[in-house]
Amino acid sequence: MIVIAAATIMDKNILVTGGLGYIGSHTVVELVNSGYHVIIVDNLSNSDKQVLNRIEKITGVAPIFYPIDIGDRESLNLIFSAHKIYAVIHFAAFKAVGESVAKPLVYYRNNVASSMLLFEAMKEYGVKNIIFSSSATVYGRPDFVPIKEDARLSPVSPYGWSKVMVEQVLKDVYFNDSNWNISILRYFNPVGSHKSGLIGENPNGIPNNLVPYINQVAIGKLEYLRVFGADYDTPDGTGVRDYIHVIDLANGHLEALKYFDTRRGCLSILNLGTGMGYSVLDVIKAFEAVCGRTIPYQVVSRRSGDIASYYADPSLANQELGWYAKYSLADMCRDSWNWQINNPDGYQ
Ligand code: NAD
Ligand code: UFG
Repeated sequence: MIVIAAATIMDKNILVTGGLGYIGSHTVVELVNSGYHVIIVDNLSNSDKQVLNRIEKITGVAPIFYPIDIGDRESLNLIFSAHKIYAVIHFAAFKAVGESVAKPLVYYRNNVASSMLLFEAMKEYGVKNIIFSSSATVYGRPDFVPIKEDARLSPVSPYGWSKVMVEQVLKDVYFNDSNWNISILRYFNPVGSHKSGLIGENPNGIPNNLVPYINQVAIGKLEYLRVFGADYDTPDGTGVRDYIHVIDLANGHLEALKYFDTRRGCLSILNLGTGMGYSVLDVIKAFEAVCGRTIPYQVVSRRSGDIASYYADPSLANQELGWYAKYSLADMCRDSWNWQINNPDGYQ
């Protein structure tokens, strides 16, 4: 049984699924600061309710929050009938590549089947504006870098396929009814956190990703970083990625929302990245400079499935949305470290 909050009269109610997660919470902050009225749906499967208090602390506004699963169609109906929703930003999903290989059905149910229920509810209640969190992982092993949106889609994990499948569903929804405004955003490597240090990436257990791992080495929770391979065909032999500050990413969503205002139906598929590739050693160096500590590391063998070089051509998002990533690698490392030092145990 869920309790529905009083209906609001503002015409820009944005329903944010997964709004207590890493990227969702940062986007909620930017939305609230820009005057949108936010309604969060999150089942807390990979987030902490504390995030809500932190959002309130940063913005001075407590967004409406429903602790429900997007696969619960009845609860979705209650929310859609209680609030006049202008647009949905759909972050809710599972995102661990390795886990998706071990539990494909869990991933397809949560990421694909539950998304269908959300889209059905949107259709039933006449909500036709959606921004969907896709991933650069849809490109798999790219033939060229920088990667353009029309590159071949060949993901290598059930997680990646779940993103391709939802993209396809949304394309078909648009081909069936071109009054929908659909923005499919393919994120590269989001890192960093809000400058307040109140919200940030809070991985469960030992992090898989580079920057959260470096954070834990810097703070002394992990002994050293394992650099997965220094024999790639890259300038220093280590893997190159397109790291993007999570606030730049969040602002991409705001620009996509504004773009909807100017359209009566659109289907956009856009890379959100900086277009700059940095190696693992570049990131270590940048992090050491901002935290003033040495990051011990050892080069070990390549991680299975890793790719030498992966970075975006973001020019389509630049042209279409007028959106540009502003933050540097140093900014990303500084804000990531600020979150870690202020929250050594995450939201505990
Ligand atoms: P996250 O796990 O921090 O956030 C996802 C949120 O969704 C969590 O709060 C979780 O509790 C919630 N959630 C999951 N399934 C749900 C369900 N069925 N119903 C309701 N809530 C549910 O992940 P994130 O890093 O913030 O990623 C957000 C989105 O961006 C995801 O779709 C992810 O696939 C995509 N993405 C992330 C990255 C990345 O590196 N972080 C890169 C590319 C794309
Ligand atoms: N790396 C290390 N040591 C570590 C962790 C990572 O050397 O402990 C290296 C990797 O080999 C890679 C780079 O750091 O060269 C970045 O690795 P991440 O794990 O941080 O990021 P990936 O690019 O491998 O994966 C990310 C997301 C995936 C998504 C993929 C493509 O985590 O979900 O980008 O978009 F699928």
